[in-house]
Order: sequence, then structure tokens, then C-alpha cells
Amino acid sequence: MKVTVVGAGAVGASCAEYIAMKNFASDVILVDIKEGFAEGKAMDLMQTASLNAFDTRITGTTGDYSKTAGSDIAVITSGIPRKPGMTREELIGINAGIVKDVSSNLIKHSPDVTIIVVSNPMDTMTYLVHKTTGLPKNKIIGMGGALDSARFKYRLAEALECPISDVDGMVIGGHSDTGMIPLTRLATRNSVLASEFLAEDRLEQVMEDTKVGGATLTKLLGTSAWYAPGAAVSGLVQAIACDQKKMFPCSALLEGEYDLDDICIGVPVILGKDGIEKIVPVDLSDAEKAKLQESAAAVKKTNGLLEL
Ligand code: 2OP
Repeated sequence: MKVTVVGAGAVGASCAEYIAMKNFASDVILVDIKEGFAEGKAMDLMQTASLNAFDTRITGTTGDYSKTAGSDIAVITSGIPRKPGMTREELIGINAGIVKDVSSNLIKHSPDVTIIVVSNPMDTMTYLVHKTTGLPKNKIIGMGGALDSARFKYRLAEALECPISDVDGMVIGGHSDTGMIPLTRLATRNSVLASEFLAEDRLEQVMEDTKVGGATLTKLLGTSAWYAPGAAVSGLVQAIACDQKKMFPCSALLEGEYDLDDICIGVPVILGKDGIEKIVPVDLSDAEKAKLQESAAAVKKTNGLLEL
């Protein structure tokens, strides 16, 4: 199982490390444009192999995509991260060109690759990869909801004052500070609805804190987060690589599902060896449906800025 991670920055390197530590991949190739950076990150990570007990081979290359040939899965993290106060959508001017070049280079050497998009604005970048590569729609996945759901669970556990392993919850919609939809109505603490424990206003606060989870960290760190994004995307890679048939909220190309068409946006999907193997319908409330339509309108507006 060969996995390429484009972008050896904090998110890409964290993703590579988590993939290696799960020990399901034979090879992880880190790619970056900065001379020696991917090679250095790969070497540093390989020097943890005996300490973290993994056999995955991690190598790095400065822009030589021939080294990525035959990749089964590729993760695109390249592009600039946001600064405090920025929205993810403001990154489109620079990141669209990068993602277009990267995805073209990837499929040149790995025509059957499954691509996972992390670069922001993620839903629009995922849509751009569809338009750029022409890969089958099941082989292009946007990672946002898995990260947002992890942040949702963190906030739920905080409010419930319980272990995170006790809670479950899912975030759908656009991966944006205003467009994501934490499904508080369906969130549970060990199969009991969270609404049995928390008042409406506290659940509302959990929802709002989740929506700005990325911005909160960017304000604290001075740049985008990397541990949780890296961990979230490594889970998607593992689900595909190991044919796990696991369900995650991912940005998927919709063609009528959820009353949406020609858009990539976060919905629950089953991930396995064929990438997105099923888009899972959820019986949303009228309010949730309205929020999803509103979120989709915002994503389509950002998509409209692409030069396709
Ligand atoms: C985040 O929310 C980078 O979009 C990513 O942290």
C-alpha cells in the first residue's frame, strides 16, 4: 500500500506520522516544493520507526512526482494555511493553482489513485480536483467533516463532563466557520441523546464552539491546526487502505443526493477500498435541511470563483 502526502508542512507531516504509526502502509512518500524539506521530514520521521515500532518506509522528495508513481492513495495538504482572522475561503486565490498542479501531477504518475483533499477552502478544492482530474467521483474525497466531528465530540464531552469515548456526533455541511452543521439533535452519550443531559442553550454553545474550532486554534497558534487535521485524514486513509467500510462525514460530489447537485460538501459516506462506496442518507429535520441548503449555496458561491 503506497500513500503519497503532498505538502510536508505541519498537517502533511502529522498525517504521514499517524499513517506510519498505524503500520498498514508499506510506503509513505512526502512531497514538498521547498528544497530538502520533505526529505528532512521523512528522515526525521524514519528515525522514530524503532521508537514507535512501525515498518512503514517514509521517503521524501522535492517535487519529483515520479517518486509517487503507483500510489494507491494521495493526500493533498499543500497550499497556504490561514492566519488569525482569515476565513478558509480567502485562501482560494493561491491554493486553487497549487491544488490544480498537484492533482495533475499525481494522476500523471498514478492514474488509478484515490485522492483525499485537505487544502482549503476544502469543499471547493475537492470540486476543483474533480474538474481537473476527471477521476471517478468515488475516488475523490474531501476531508473536513471527520475533523469537525472530532472537534464536536471534544466540545460535547466538555459539556457533558464525560470521557470522549462516551460521546458520538457528526458534523455535515461545508467545512467553513459558518457552513458546518454539528448534528446536536442526533448526538449521543453512550446511545442516550445528548439532549437528555444538556439544555438547548448549552447544546447551541457546543454547536457554535465546534463551528469555530479551526479559527479558535488559528487564533491561539497563529496558524492553522495540524494534529487533529493530520489524525483525521490518516483515519480516512486507513479506512480506504484497509477496506474498513467505515462511515465518516466527507466532502463528496453530490448528484441529486440531499437535494443537491454538482457540488462537493460534507455528507456521511462509507469508505472502503473503492473510496466512497456509498453516500448515506440521513433523515434530517426541516431546520437541518435548510441549513444544508444554505451551506451549499455558500460553497457554490466559492466554487464560482474558480477558473475552470
Ligand atoms: C482546520 O479546520 C485546517 O481547515 C483545517 O483546522
